[in-house]
Amino acid sequence: MTNASVPHEIEVVERIQESPTIFTLRLRFTDPELHAAFRFEPGQFNMLYLYGVGEVAISIVSDPDDERLFNHTIRVVGRVTRGMAQLKAGDRLGVRGPYGRGWPLQQAQDRDVMIITGGLGCAPVVSVINYVIRRRERFRRLVIMQGVKHSDDLIWRQQYARWGKQPDTQVLVAANEGATLWPWHVGNVTELFDKVEIDAARAVVMMCGPEGMMRVAVDNLLERNVHESNIYLSMERSMNCAVGLCGHCQYGGKFVCKDGPVFSYPDVKPLFDMRGF
Ligand SMILES: Cc1cc2nc3c(=O)[nH]c(=O)nc-3n(C[C@H](O)[C@H](O)[C@H](O)COP(=O)(O)OP(=O)(O)OC[C@H]3O[C@@H](n4cnc5c(N)ncnc54)[C@H](O)[C@@H]3O)c2cc1C
Ligand code: FES
Repeated sequence: MTNASVPHEIEVVERIQESPTIFTLRLRFTDPELHAAFRFEPGQFNMLYLYGVGEVAISIVSDPDDERLFNHTIRVVGRVTRGMAQLKAGDRLGVRGPYGRGWPLQQAQDRDVMIITGGLGCAPVVSVINYVIRRRERFRRLVIMQGVKHSDDLIWRQQYARWGKQPDTQVLVAANEGATLWPWHVGNVTELFDKVEIDAARAVVMMCGPEGMMRVAVDNLLERNVHESNIYLSMERSMNCAVGLCGHCQYGGKFVCKDGPVFSYPDVKPLFDMRGF
């Protein structure tokens, strides 16, 4: 895009209700030239603008090579996301982006890839999972760990089952509270580390979700001799400009919007270890 601060018009092509509070919008630019020029990397985000209400940062979950539409999966938490939940096919909104640094997919080639995620944390990493699965020959073992509070919160349930059937792929899912017939673990996702089968020396780990969960996961990985420079985290802070100007998303000396949202663990270690920062 040419001007990072001006939203462009996009149109909802399809709306999918994923759970009572989570929905996916499948979108395209109303200007075909802008649509054709739109490129992004897994892990990057857009600023979606609901006209007359406000703007929110939302990760892009679709495959970067799928040029037809791009997708955002959104959880209703407040004013803007509540308004976006009312959108239907044909409605218009604004977009700026893509912004931020995505996942280290080049570095992950020919290595074991481990993805750890909690809650709707799965939105930023689902694009990586799909990316790896569609280009399976470029990567070694794939381990997907997903934790949710309640089993009903797990969206894309069939996808987890499908991913688990892929060659050299391990899927470990946990819910703190599991409904009847919940097939996976009941408890914290981090309790599943003993089941993980990876080559720690060759693994690249990508994670997102609640920071408490990521802290426990990092400790576990370091204990298992995963090198800290091979651990990547997607951080969430409230966004405003998204281009490193307003300071809203400041994280110590870094800006989550432009230096992140994906950081290598050594880049954020001093602050990450400080609870509540
Ligand atoms: C890089 C990035 C990627 C994101 N990707 C997604 C995504 O793919 N899907 C999705 O549903 N959400 C995502 N979010 C979070 C999303 O931006 C917020 O939920 C949204 O801004 C809330 O706006 P609102 O007006 O609906 O709620 P508000 O009325 O602004 O807030 C409602 C509540 O949520 C809290 N909150 C608002 N924004 C954040 C935030 N960024 N982090 C933590 N708490 C927050 C507020 O403190 C308040 O308690 C992402 C955020 C960032 C920074
Ligand atoms: S959102 Fe303005 S500096 Fe990051």
